[in-house]
Amino acid sequence: MQHPQPRFDSDCPQPRRRDALITSPPAPVSGADNTADHTIEPATAEPPWRQQLRASLGDLPAVRRRRLRSLAPAGAAALQPAAPEGATDARAGAASPRPPSPLLDLASNDYLGLSRDPAVLAAAAAELHASGLGATASRLICGTRPVHLELEQALAAWLGRERVLLFPSGFQANLAAVCALADRHSLVLADRLIHHSLLAGVRASGARLKRFAHNDSADLERLLLSERCDRPEAPLLVLCESLYSMEGSASPLAALAALCARHRVPLLVDEAHALGVLGPCGRGLAHGIASVAIVSGTFGKAFGSGGAFLAGDSLVGDWLLQSSGAFRYTTALAPPLAAGALAALGRIQADPEAASALLERCGRWRDALEAAGWPRPPGEGPILSVRLGDDTAALAAQERLEAAGLLALAIRPPTVPEGTARLRLVLRTGLPSGTLEKLLVALGPGPRLSLASP
Ligand SMILES: Cc1ncc(COP(=O)(O)O)c(C=O)c1O
Repeated sequence: MQHPQPRFDSDCPQPRRRDALITSPPAPVSGADNTADHTIEPATAEPPWRQQLRASLGDLPAVRRRRLRSLAPAGAAALQPAAPEGATDARAGAASPRPPSPLLDLASNDYLGLSRDPAVLAAAAAELHASGLGATASRLICGTRPVHLELEQALAAWLGRERVLLFPSGFQANLAAVCALADRHSLVLADRLIHHSLLAGVRASGARLKRFAHNDSADLERLLLSERCDRPEAPLLVLCESLYSMEGSASPLAALAALCARHRVPLLVDEAHALGVLGPCGRGLAHGIASVAIVSGTFGKAFGSGGAFLAGDSLVGDWLLQSSGAFRYTTALAPPLAAGALAALGRIQADPEAASALLERCGRWRDALEAAGWPRPPGEGPILSVRLGDDTAALAAQERLEAAGLLALAIRPPTVPEGTARLRLVLRTGLPSGTLEKLLVALGPGPRLSLASP
């Protein structure tokens, strides 16, 4: 039976189809007999694969092009942009670059400011000197250090799960998690807005993919029932995030988990953005839901570090250990990062007030944006998504904020669906008072107020 191909959303532009290009003929090979002389004459025309890349890049409209910029940490909650090329400081003379002002950080995922917390830095530095910079091997060869096991045990106890395994990144952990629970015989049912890494996992597993409407458990149930009816024995897997990274909305996890339990289907929850901030004492929104098969977490957000983990029961943990190529065939998480994550966990446990104060502030910002005529950003967590619709409007809003000393990013398709470009505001501890007022002035009145005014 021919299965429909999974729809695969990508954060990246896809190369043009080969047959859409006019390709040049192969460069001539010298000598009458190709087997006798393999000298290739210098090709005058660009090879087809480079033409293909050039054409694909040429297809990208200017408002969709991404660029890398350097932003150095500056103070508690600010980032210092590098001087634009060619900029000069009139006071200091024409040759020296004019340093732009630091920007308040409303863009990073360092929700609790732990990336520069003294206790976290000290723990990472101590491990750096004790263990070295890298783990020097994969976990199953000789790359497991005491700090890896300590962190895995501490996370398991904190989350109330039997087994935790560390990974070098959340992207890799998600890939491993999907491949552990699905294969080419499976159907994966995923929320329409799940992260690219989970989609990459589906593609790597060879499973089919169907999407349910964002946070819509009724739509998930419709898909589950229809699949059970058509192919009662087919293995299924359900994927969601607990706090959506570009939307700021939280998943109806209890309903999704109950549905999955009723249909005896595993549920994989990506808690990347919730851990440390949401759920009881920052333990995430899947905390206490025993039927969740795998929880995925990263240290790249609230933990202020790098690396990631998967948590599950001992059966799932052992299956991952025995079967996952993404766990076995990669250099173990750098020990200083593991030590930093362990110290960050200690800080999160010791100071639950930090997350609750942050969430209170998030509520005040949502109220204020709504009162200023903007649609209330969905959810309750630290990601506030202000919908602008059009790419150009989102980029213009980013620029207005930047002129006011605030860094928040315009998020455009294909990272979000067409027509839903937005400004992604991320709240964090350590923002000075007056930041909200600055933001409201820079943003101006929202569509509700601007339409109402004559
Ligand atoms: C929802 C979600 N899952 C997974 C990841 C990947 O995590 P990491 O940055 O550790 O690779 C990210 C980061 O962008 C994310 O936003």
